[in-house]
Amino acid sequence: MNKKAILLAGGAGTRLFPLTKIVCKQLLPIYDKPMICYPLATLMLGGLREILIITTPKDLPMLRDYLGDGSRLGIRIEYAEQPKPEGIAQAFLIAAKFIGDSGASLILGDNIFYGKLDFYRDALAIERGACIFGYQVRDPQRYGVVEFDADGKAISLEEKPKHPKSHFAVPGLYVYDERVVDLCRTLRPSARGELEITDLNLLYLKEKQLHVKLLSRGMAWLDTGTQTSLLEAGNYIATIEHRQGLKIACLEEVALRMRFISQSDLAAIIDRLPKGEYRNYLRMVCDEGSSTAAPEPVG
Ligand code: DAU
Repeated sequence: MNKKAILLAGGAGTRLFPLTKIVCKQLLPIYDKPMICYPLATLMLGGLREILIITTPKDLPMLRDYLGDGSRLGIRIEYAEQPKPEGIAQAFLIAAKFIGDSGASLILGDNIFYGKLDFYRDALAIERGACIFGYQVRDPQRYGVVEFDADGKAISLEEKPKHPKSHFAVPGLYVYDERVVDLCRTLRPSARGELEITDLNLLYLKEKQLHVKLLSRGMAWLDTGTQTSLLEAGNYIATIEHRQGLKIACLEEVALRMRFISQSDLAAIIDRLPKGEYRNYLRMVCDEGSSTAAPEPVG
């Protein structure tokens, strides 16, 4: 089982300027909490507790200030710098020491998943090769795109193709075996000067070691890349949270339900929180306990 995870939260944030002039994209609000909570909750719900956050030298202190070393959530968070946005696959070179000789999962700090995460837990259990996902979208040319043959086997992968061969985009959530760092060392920068995650996935595809699982249409994979999609993502989260009276990607709740922390740990966290809606919610969660009857947290 893959145990280590990287959360990549760098990038220039140019597309969301001026929102990203002061605060990095991954700390912008998605309704009632910073964006980074959503991908971090996804990793935690996958059972991952050793997490390396990679970000820019400028943003690192702010992210560390917010999340700390993770101990209050029963996880371990380390931090590393990516001085320039030289590609998503560069994350594995930066993380080489953290990964050691194990495999690693990567999530992009601006990717939001909502729904049952069994697909991810299954992927983490795969011993050899890599696992990526496919998700049907209206505008595949904005993403990595995977094409399947008649038997549902992945046959091609392209990064932002002008003429996509399918409607299946590859979300920013990936699982790799222990060869990932060595394979990344063989990559060369693309025409746009980046070590492309799609090129890494192509290496696994060539070796017939790439698993591609389709996400069901019941899953939500939300985009936060433009001002409009950012607002839509926030509205989506608000709609579900209001309907259910449950929060999505509330990290303290996730930590409790995953049994990374105890009820008394949560009570101590709550005591230190400012009065307000978030604290009231956690009080309710704490009083109810980590009972298995409680709905599985998703996010
Ligand atoms: O969101 C899924 C898509 O993410 C995939 O379908 C694509 O195959 C993949 O290339 C990527 O496409 P994007 O156009 O979204 O990549 P972008 O350059 O916007 O980077 C995504 C996030 O990763 C962004 O929040 C910034 C961060 N990032 C990116 C690069 C290139 C870094 O932290 N460092 C980097 O060097």
